[in-house]
Amino acid sequence: METKRFHIDPQQIDREQIKEAANILREGGLVAFPTETVYGLGGDAMNPNASNAIYAAKGRPSDNPLIVHICEYCQLEEIASELPDAAKKLADAFWPGPMTMIVKKNEKIPLETTGGLNTVAVRFPNHPIANALIRESGCMIAAPSANTSGRPSPTSADHVWNDLNGKIEGLIDGGEVKIGLESTIVDLTEDVPMILRPGYINKEMLEEVVGPVKVDPAVLGTENVHIKPKAPGMRYKHYAPKGNLKIVTGEEKNVIAEIDRRSREDEAAGIKVGIIATEETKHAYRHGTVLCVGERKNEDQIAHNLFAVLREMDDLGMENIYSEDFSTPRIGQAIMNRLLKAAAHQVIEVS
Ligand code: TXA
Ligand code: MG
Repeated sequence: METKRFHIDPQQIDREQIKEAANILREGGLVAFPTETVYGLGGDAMNPNASNAIYAAKGRPSDNPLIVHICEYCQLEEIASELPDAAKKLADAFWPGPMTMIVKKNEKIPLETTGGLNTVAVRFPNHPIANALIRESGCMIAAPSANTSGRPSPTSADHVWNDLNGKIEGLIDGGEVKIGLESTIVDLTEDVPMILRPGYINKEMLEEVVGPVKVDPAVLGTENVHIKPKAPGMRYKHYAPKGNLKIVTGEEKNVIAEIDRRSREDEAAGIKVGIIATEETKHAYRHGTVLCVGERKNEDQIAHNLFAVLREMDDLGMENIYSEDFSTPRIGQAIMNRLLKAAAHQVIEVS
């Protein structure tokens, strides 16, 4: 199939193009579109065939549920069978925005969309193109990240094009996304809200609004790799570059020395080696190809660039990749959750 590429300026929405893309969705087709987190691959959430087509295009297991994107709070009420008080409070505080809530579903959303679960993940994104598309289509839009399953999530239209050209009906190019990491997922189906996937909205921000919040232990650090995560998608290998990625952690000068030593040895052995570094450290490396993920003191920048850098490592054919640790104060948990998965939890600790 031919994928139609739309170009829409988020600051100045072209109604005609939105209408055309919305028509594709209404007819059961798939359109990828930008959100503030990552690009999503959209289909009509009420149409089981559209959900099946999403799984097929991504090569994603069909027991891995999709997020339903809405453009008004009342749409959450329409598809939930019950809503705890926390839902309204969190929506007031963070919607539209990079937070997804899991609630009990009623019969309106088909099981194909929720991977067979009786709960549904719902998000009201904060992006003019996403919002216009949802509104114009009159659909709630089921949308996972618009990457081939297992690859890093797409933060630009070109990433989507590389993965899905020829497999979907449309792609709206609305420029680079802002945040670059997928939304925080909060499960509201138990007594205490639980973070199933860390994101830009962190635990402290949620707790200010609803009191104590738990974090699924399976998504934190390396000690808990044996625990099964509650969000099905967090169980799969993910975000992984093709090269063998290892994270080196410890005091900065020791990290640099260790990466430098390993990359020298790799190079001598004829292995293509890539290094994920920061603005502050990039000049310290003497071997390998250094890609800069941003300034260490600017964690938003690191989040924004991480997936693009992982993809670039693939494009460059890097065989061994070493990354510094980015356990930054505010969104470090989300950044490291993605990076540890990408590294299959291979961490080298230097003192
Ligand atoms: O920022 C985002 O959330 C992006 C943009 C496009 O909105 N979407 C996204 O979707 O990251 P996806 O499908 O790549 O990730 C959704 C995650 C998966 O790990 C999935 O297993 C989990 O949410 N999930 C969805 N519904 C769930 C449910 N009912 N219970 C538990 N986990 C659920
Ligand atoms: Mg995804």
